[in-house]
Amino acid sequence: MAKGLDVGTMNILSAQQDGNDTVFVQQRNSFVEIEYSDMAEQMLARSDVLHIRKDDKVYVVGDDALNFANIFNKETRRPMKHGILSNDEQSAIPMMKLIIQQVVGEPDRPDEKVYFSTPADPIDSELSTLYHQKTIESFLDDMGYDAEPINEGMSVIYSELADNNFTGLGISFGAGMTNVCLAYYAVPVMKFSVARGGDWIDEQAARATGTPVDKVTSIKEDDFELDFTTDVGGVEGALAIYYENLLDYVIENIVSEVDEEDIEEGLDIPVVVTGGTSSPRGFEKLFRDHLREATIPFSISGVSHANEPLYSVARGGLVAARSDEDVDREETAEPETEAAPPSE
Ligand SMILES: Nc1ncnc2c1ncn2[C@@H]1O[C@H](COP(=O)(O)OP(=O)(O)OP(=O)(O)O)[C@@H](O)[C@H]1O
Ligand SMILES: [Mg+2]
Repeated sequence: MAKGLDVGTMNILSAQQDGNDTVFVQQRNSFVEIEYSDMAEQMLARSDVLHIRKDDKVYVVGDDALNFANIFNKETRRPMKHGILSNDEQSAIPMMKLIIQQVVGEPDRPDEKVYFSTPADPIDSELSTLYHQKTIESFLDDMGYDAEPINEGMSVIYSELADNNFTGLGISFGAGMTNVCLAYYAVPVMKFSVARGGDWIDEQAARATGTPVDKVTSIKEDDFELDFTTDVGGVEGALAIYYENLLDYVIENIVSEVDEEDIEEGLDIPVVVTGGTSSPRGFEKLFRDHLREATIPFSISGVSHANEPLYSVARGGLVAARSDEDVDREETAEPETEAAPPSE
């Protein structure tokens, strides 16, 4: 067996194959710190709540963090920011470790392959992804996996463009970042990220309208459409403005990052958009319209939207891990004629 793991700023997901189905396990990448009390103890005893007890504090981690935060009137915190481990969150590492352990589970056998997503270095910030990547890799290796990083944009290509020989432009619009990768025949020729995604849209729209960020996020995630027909001056209007601004920013950076030497002449490139931020109705059309207006140095055959935008990065990791395992198996399988007779 093999697994894929999407380590995202908002969501952590694993993917594995079960017969013909792909099974996903998901947790919110979030935690809350509460005081240890009798009530907390009772609530923790009731179910399989992921938590860490430290002295008189309890850290509730993953999907349950939000419930506990509401009950105990606390704010949730996030171990990651802008696509990588947050450097202003001291507790990030043990929280991430616990979520990853729960999501990915024990390896089925020693050195089972797991491909985990990692962002490209952002072109618009000083952040380096190396420390983040090595930390996640060491969690997984310690659990007994053979862990390999896979670029998040490349993972989208593995997930969505298998029928096109893994050739195309994959874009993952996440919470902390947007990741872009152009690949020909599974070889990436351009990859970059920008440190803007859904969080950036939420923060900008919140600031512009004087609305709390959490409120903006829930309006955005609940039936918001990019149709530009309503709500000038309201939160939805502000969301639409910053959505459009993010798209233009990503397209602008694609234009400036593509090196003409990397382009294969005469090949039309499919573009796939995915990630939670690509969810609202109207997103795909808006992106297609804006891309058409830009001077992209290669010809585009079409723009499509992943069927399950929250799952494609984990699925891509699984596809890559399985094909890697197949290669290993072929290399280690001895040709029959050379097989030694079993000793008695
Ligand atoms: N239905 C929805 N409509 C609009 N936005 C949504 C919807 N569902 C989720 N989102 C947004 O998608 C983002 C999370 O997407 P995703 O899980 O792809 O990010 P991530 O992988 O955790 O982050 P990153 O890749 O940046 O590290 C958040 O900003 C969230 O608010
Ligand atoms: Mg992501």
